[in-house]
Amino acid sequence: RVLVLDFGSQYAQLIARRVREQNVYCEIVRHDITAERLKELDPIGIILSGGPNSVYEPDAPQCDAKLFELGIPVLGICYGMQLVCQALGGKVDNTPSREYGRAECEVTDAGDLFANVAAQTQVWMSHGDQVAGIAEDFLPMARTSTCPYAAIKHRQLPIYGLQFHPEVTHTPEGATVLGNFLNSVCGANGTWKLGDFAEETIARIRQQVGDDRVICGLSGGVDSAVVAAILAEAIGEQLSCILVDNGLLRLDEERAVVEEFSDHFKTDLHVVKAEDRFLDVLDGVTDPQEKRRRIGHTFIECFASEAQKIEGAKYLAQGTLYPDVIESGAAPDGPADTIKLHHNVGGLPEELGFDLIEPLRDLFKDEVRRLGLQLGLPEEIVWRHPFPGPGLAVRCLGEVTKGRLDTLRAADAIVVGEIKAAGLYRATSQSFAVLLPIQSVGVMGDSRTYEDTIAVRSVNTDDFMTADWSHLPYELLARISTRIINEVQGVNRVVYDISSKPPATIEWE
Ligand code: XMP
Repeated sequence: RVLVLDFGSQYAQLIARRVREQNVYCEIVRHDITAERLKELDPIGIILSGGPNSVYEPDAPQCDAKLFELGIPVLGICYGMQLVCQALGGKVDNTPSREYGRAECEVTDAGDLFANVAAQTQVWMSHGDQVAGIAEDFLPMARTSTCPYAAIKHRQLPIYGLQFHPEVTHTPEGATVLGNFLNSVCGANGTWKLGDFAEETIARIRQQVGDDRVICGLSGGVDSAVVAAILAEAIGEQLSCILVDNGLLRLDEERAVVEEFSDHFKTDLHVVKAEDRFLDVLDGVTDPQEKRRRIGHTFIECFASEAQKIEGAKYLAQGTLYPDVIESGAAPDGPADTIKLHHNVGGLPEELGFDLIEPLRDLFKDEVRRLGLQLGLPEEIVWRHPFPGPGLAVRCLGEVTKGRLDTLRAADAIVVGEIKAAGLYRATSQSFAVLLPIQSVGVMGDSRTYEDTIAVRSVNTDDFMTADWSHLPYELLARISTRIINEVQGVNRVVYDISSKPPATIEWE
């Protein structure tokens, strides 16, 4: 495996994903991991990530300089390259060298990392500092018009540095550069496969669970579906699934999940009909945080009381993913101080008394999707856009009532249906309708109307931490608007949300 030392870059996870895409297993570890511990972990290569700091700041995160003596290949990216230089005698300059965006890179050493890369290639730069001078032991490999050392290598040791970011798509030949490091320098053979991962996980679950029963919550989302599918494969009839119908699901969501898990996987499926209970606790509540709190609480109550009815259940399976593990600081050797940015649900309290099984805790979302397809889940479930735990309640601004939820569900189905019909569902990351708490004046036929407003939200994003609004074709927006106004009673206005995240968020509440 390859280890990425995380210096606080928003790209650390992306680097790990790119490495795995080359079928090399990769994990993220804290930046101050000791050289001794690294030696124990015995990676075939080490990547130092970028980071927001300047290596000169007094508290700038450092790495254990002894790691350069281990003989393990090292690739420093951006801040990581500056650390390499600082440790091994180069000069980092923080004065007039800011560079952000695309740059033309001239490759001056065509072997090594740049094998099969064009002599002039586009790269993505994002830095305040850059390396101004390199030590005797290093050789330059590439430059841009403002950056004399866009790539460097050590003369004797397998140590490399890139000022640009090979992991982002704006560096079109970045995958080749990373691949050269992994294959030629680290000697990786690209044999890590998801299929093997699935087999190993299934065997491990069988051994761990023995004859006991496992409970798995289903939400309609892809993560819980893949967890259930892998468990169904591993332990078959010893699996019981619980779906809490909170009345806040999308149109047809419950039906799709029930069909899949009672027909296709033939699991013991318990559907808890709790719409009234949720609507009761939400009655009159308009504050977003309060909505979330009450929904979370009620969910746990419903889930726990159903789980207690299931005899012999010892384990609870959860769809925790690798980014959750990293961001909550729970990974062994992982970065400890990153802020948890995702409000992930499904975190059921320990008092429920079950032992946890988290089969996806080593995987990224795109890997979970691929695994889902391998396990035979339909594309419809696997490629479904993510949906927040509190469901439509946080898209129904203001009061949450059955009537308003039905309006929202109908509008949402039109938004999603039209985006699918236009072939753009996979090209967008999350698309949905929001029901606003304001009414506005309209005219229908000869009469004045005073009715609801639907906002359409569609975003493109890699990681859901930053997002851009989708540039949907006008004709598609026009169709969505016409259909909602004609078909959804009580709506006379449709608006399109053109805010990016940040400063807006993806959801409206
Ligand atoms: P925001 O709105 O913060 O959303 O930009 C980022 C991603 O997280 C989802 N989201 C949630 N997921 N429980 C969840 O499980 C929540 O309370 C929640 N709030 C937002 C959101 O749909 C988007 O994918």
